[in-house]
Amino acid sequence: MSAGLPEGQEKLRREFNAWQARGRGESMARHHLPLTERALERMGIATGDRVLDLGCGAGWATRLIAGRVGPRGIAVGVDISDAMIREAQEHPDAPRNARFLCAPAEHIPWEGGFFTHVLSVESFYYYADQSAVLRELERLLAPGGRIFLLMCLFRGNPNAQSWVDKLAVPVHLRSAEEYRELLREAGWRDIAVEVFTPPTDDPAPDEHAWACLAMATRP
Ligand SMILES: C[S@@+](CC[C@H](N)C(=O)[O-])C[C@H]1O[C@@H](n2cnc3c(N)ncnc32)[C@H](O)[C@@H]1O
Repeated sequence: MSAGLPEGQEKLRREFNAWQARGRGESMARHHLPLTERALERMGIATGDRVLDLGCGAGWATRLIAGRVGPRGIAVGVDISDAMIREAQEHPDAPRNARFLCAPAEHIPWEGGFFTHVLSVESFYYYADQSAVLRELERLLAPGGRIFLLMCLFRGNPNAQSWVDKLAVPVHLRSAEEYRELLREAGWRDIAVEVFTPPTDDPAPDEHAWACLAMATRP
């Protein structure tokens, strides 16, 4: 699906294909899993749920979710990087109720009103037009469906600016309050934004120890 992407999205695809080639698809799980587990607690996923993992990378969280929704549910991982999606599809433990799709977050080829939950781990700040992605998620969610956007790169993480300076692609650097406002302006309901910080006894916290989890119900 790489042909015909707008230049900004094509740049993201190339960059994350390069991350995959360097083995970062699976290794990101090490940094992102502890916070993802906290997001999963908030999601309250049940058997039979239909969950989208947006910007799924190599698919480790999609597989985790597939286990939780059981054979009557489904977990769908979507990513703009075809190399990440190939790695996810070829994983030896890919469950039967997990599907992986290469697509930009702005246009996901899936029927509307399908998903009960959307999780997005460390991906939302890469989307050039975040409002367009919110509209696409509104289309994809069933009534009452909720989004859970987990981001370590936010204005509130003391490492954020140096992290932005190192990245080869543009990102949004918003505060937790700005994410709340973005969701409010887009008409999302029951908005909650939680900020995670490192334990006070950690002398040298990793840059992934801070995170912002924005949660909301479909308009
Ligand atoms: C930092 S990685 C996180 C991957 C995975 N969620 C994890 O925690 O391991 C960000 C992911 O977002 C994907 N991504 C970035 N922009 C995207 C877009 N516009 N549409 C879909 N995926 C995108 C990248 O390809 C990449 O796999």
